[in-house]
Amino acid sequence: MERETAANLLFRNARIIDPAQGLDGRADVLVLDGRLTEIGAHLQISADWQAEVPEIDLGGKWIVPGLLDMHVHLREPGEEYKETIATGTASATGGGFVAVACMPNTHPVNDCAAVTEFIIERARAQGSCRVFPVGAISRGLAGESLAEFGELREAGAVAVSDDGRAVLNSLLMRRALEYARAFDLPVISHAEDLNLSRGGLMNEGSVSTMLGLRGIPNAAEEVMVARDLLLAELTHSRLHIAHVSTAGSVQLIRQAKQRGIAVTAETAPQYFTLTEDDLATFDTVYKVNPPLRSSGDVEAIKLGLADGTIDAIATDHAPHSTLEKDTEFEFAANGMIGLESAVPLILSLIREGVLSPLEAIAKLTCNPATILGLPLGAMLPRMPADLTILDPEETYVLDCSTFRSKSRNCPFHGKNMQGRVLMTLAEGRVAFTRMTDKGLTQTNTHTSRKP
Ligand code: DOR
Repeated sequence: MERETAANLLFRNARIIDPAQGLDGRADVLVLDGRLTEIGAHLQISADWQAEVPEIDLGGKWIVPGLLDMHVHLREPGEEYKETIATGTASATGGGFVAVACMPNTHPVNDCAAVTEFIIERARAQGSCRVFPVGAISRGLAGESLAEFGELREAGAVAVSDDGRAVLNSLLMRRALEYARAFDLPVISHAEDLNLSRGGLMNEGSVSTMLGLRGIPNAAEEVMVARDLLLAELTHSRLHIAHVSTAGSVQLIRQAKQRGIAVTAETAPQYFTLTEDDLATFDTVYKVNPPLRSSGDVEAIKLGLADGTIDAIATDHAPHSTLEKDTEFEFAANGMIGLESAVPLILSLIREGVLSPLEAIAKLTCNPATILGLPLGAMLPRMPADLTILDPEETYVLDCSTFRSKSRNCPFHGKNMQGRVLMTLAEGRVAFTRMTDKGLTQTNTHTSRKP
């Protein structure tokens, strides 16, 4: 690590929440030369470091392990007008994330080593945090023949998925699960029966009838969740269900876990925060796939988070430009950005009593790290510091014009929020800070960094 970019900081009086180590308590945290040097009470710094180490009294604000978002769309290569690896990772660190896993629905699709290597190289050169590519299950996401998982793994892919499209062919999905097991890659399922969802624009129910928009039934997701659980049982492979949105999916996953099937699941903040009622204005910012569901589904998602059925919270950050969004509802693209609004929405689950602070932080740190097999998500001494500093109390109105993402398709713009990211230390560097009054400067996120 280069000395000039590595952070030296002493945080006093922090609330440390590290679920991987079962830690929740007050302490000081010392970062020297970019490394997490010590956590403890009343830390002292040696005389030769004192002049170089600014002290920040956090007065009980939180320090948690750097957050990991296991499901984002960075759009590079191919749709750089929506997002690039540079802007997407800047958005990630602005939202408190020190690492992201990016989905393969780029142009070209990430279905071979050349694209995986390009993403990793670009992230190393221009990114402000680590990027872990997810390779495609099928070549070109066409659902016809499998990509080369060994080649993808070798190049650095951490999972395989056809996210954005389901693998409709059950035999291909079976083979994908068997093939992925040989390389210890989790298979991430975008669970959607395209025959049931075709032409659908929102959740199917009384609201879609009232608005005159064609609906997508919960069963479009649940049929595929059920199929993939059966295939995971058959193949003894690791299955991860992406963006769970319905009560029935939660119940199927809960039962599968009870039967001992190796399944994990994630949901996204929109599925425990928004409902189909938000579509009443026909605002395309609420158009997303899977669609926003009913309030009953939202309650079931919260129960699934609370009892551990849903292991992780990921944003499904899906940037789109005004070209795709400022159009008739029918033609608008699915997706919403999420990296810079996730933290306050997840903290609201703690205030509501759905999750404890340890449980909420686990779903953003050690749980996704375990699913993807990454050595992240814990505050381990002597390692390059990956830390997120949060003020859980600060209230403000979310203004997405200040976001570092290139896109503005954020449904929470103008909404009252509570809880804010104050600083993100990624691999020992200050990748984002709001604490400029402490004399800390923000590193230029677009300059090249060395591993
Ligand atoms: O709303 C969505 N947008 N859902 C997906 O599965 C894909 C994503 C995208 O790539 O825009």
